Amino acid sequence: MKFISVAIDGPVGAGKSTVARECAKRLGFIYCDTGALYRAVGLYCVRNGKKLEDPSEVAGCLDGINVGLSLVDGVQHVFLNGEDVSEEIRLPEMSMAASVVSAIPQVRGKLLSMQREAAEKNDVIMDGRDIGTVVLPNADVKIFLTAKPEIRAKRRYDELIKKGVETTFEDVLSDLNERDHNDSHRAVAPLKQADDAIFVDTSELDFGQSVELICGIVRERQNVL
Ligand code: DC
Repeated sequence: MKFISVAIDGPVGAGKSTVARECAKRLGFIYCDTGALYRAVGLYCVRNGKKLEDPSEVAGCLDGINVGLSLVDGVQHVFLNGEDVSEEIRLPEMSMAASVVSAIPQVRGKLLSMQREAAEKNDVIMDGRDIGTVVLPNADVKIFLTAKPEIRAKRRYDELIKKGVETTFEDVLSDLNERDHNDSHRAVAPLKQADDAIFVDTSELDFGQSVELICGIVRERQNVL
């Protein structure tokens, strides 16, 4: 049986995860948030005092890292050496740690097969930075989801404040710009739009409109498969 795969890539705060999660629910697909895997590796390195900026130190500790994804009541949970770290990986400092370790080729290599396996056994919506270009180059639908930086930063700021995280809009915007720069300028699998991806700018769209738009694109494609 052939499973359908939808790749959603884009910069920080474009709404990939919230939109993808809701689309997956409506379409009956599983949702795979690949950023969570890089965050778990970042968390391990921070907890164990590894120098993130030293690729050989990070690569050297990868054998001690076992990252797992599983669905609990339909929601993706992330396990680091058996511990559920789904909450801790969302801390703002883990965002930057994930971005730094994700530039290391050995880290990307370790996580690649896991992501591909998820798409082999399920209809999946997978989001990240290199899904349409590297992880699932033959995905049935590819979307490059973005919005203006100030709008993405405002959405991320509101989300963090709601969670009780103390921060400022300026800090969120500068963190977002720095991460986007790292993610799109690294040598291996940088963030970029796949040639055959559909460009979607959500600057003028609310959450419901973005979900409708993407579900519509997927359904249209399903009809011709
Ligand atoms: O999607 P996110 O913000 O949770 O991702 C955290 C970091 O992980 C992001 O800054 C870059 C990296 N990442 C990646 O390099 N490739 C992916 N497919 C997903 C995330």
